[in-house]
Amino acid sequence: NAPVFLDCDTGIDDALALAYLLGSGANLVGVGSVSGNTDALQGATNTQNLLALAGHGHVPVALGHHHPQARPYGGGAPHVHGQNGIGEVELPDAGLELAPESAPEMLVRLARATPGQLRVIAIGPLTNIAAALRLDPELPGLIRELTIMGGAAMAPGNITPASEANIHNDPEAAAEVFAADWEIVLVPLDVTMSHVLEEADLERLQASESPAVQAVGSMLGYYFDFYKGVFGRRCSVMHDPLAAAIAVGRVQATSAPYARVVVDATDGPGRGQTICDLRGLYKGYPKPSGAHCRVVLEAGEGAIDEILRGTLALADAS
Ligand code: BDR
Ligand code: CA
Repeated sequence: NAPVFLDCDTGIDDALALAYLLGSGANLVGVGSVSGNTDALQGATNTQNLLALAGHGHVPVALGHHHPQARPYGGGAPHVHGQNGIGEVELPDAGLELAPESAPEMLVRLARATPGQLRVIAIGPLTNIAAALRLDPELPGLIRELTIMGGAAMAPGNITPASEANIHNDPEAAAEVFAADWEIVLVPLDVTMSHVLEEADLERLQASESPAVQAVGSMLGYYFDFYKGVFGRRCSVMHDPLAAAIAVGRVQATSAPYARVVVDATDGPGRGQTICDLRGLYKGYPKPSGAHCRVVLEAGEGAIDEILRGTLALADAS
């Protein structure tokens, strides 16, 4: 069971991804917090309180960067995730201490302790991951795989026409991460927008005996209201949980071409765009060089069932 480090901006779908990983028996050895949906400190508190409610308060949580690399933190997405990042759900205060190291330091330490084994799952802006790279440029050779929820390969963005939130929130950091030499699995909007949790699924989560799953169900109610404005019905797309399920090998990508990915960190209309060199998809086109990233364009139909199965299993585990 490979060790997993999760870097997140908890966040409603981050909370579901966390519950899914715990319920699925992932070997979660540390969590980093970064500003995104909410600020890094609030996100860390949300993460700690949810871990404790799920009976996993021993998993260390490290505070990461508050500000993106080049610009001040923009204040999150309260219209999507609520003022507190978790849909105004009040989790019991577990009063846990933060780890005595920063999130980038924790990532580097864990990678060094388990060379070639650590799976890193990044479901927030990439500020902490870029900082870890600068702390230890050998990091890519020390981890097993880096799975990133972010970007839009051929699909439209969700913040600007070209950019997705996690990348848009820190394009400079993302550009550094994609320029480094590691095996990346990118889970972009192309695939996350087409896996949808419906009302009946939500009811199953809310009926769980696990207080942590119930709490995530309440958070998702807020998310469903937001997506009603997008889809015209209460439901929610699955960004972070899908990336988590792919990262731990429980959901298979059915289309994941290799591509070189660069991030636009300029000031123009493309800021935050993930430019994925998918020209190899054209029949007969010479394979572009420098590919180091699997870009997940499609995943199996059973992805939502797997996310539900894993998350609901938390009731049995705790
Ligand atoms: C991503 O941005 C955040 O709002 C979500 O938690 C997810 O990680 C989707 O664009
Ligand atoms: Ca997130």
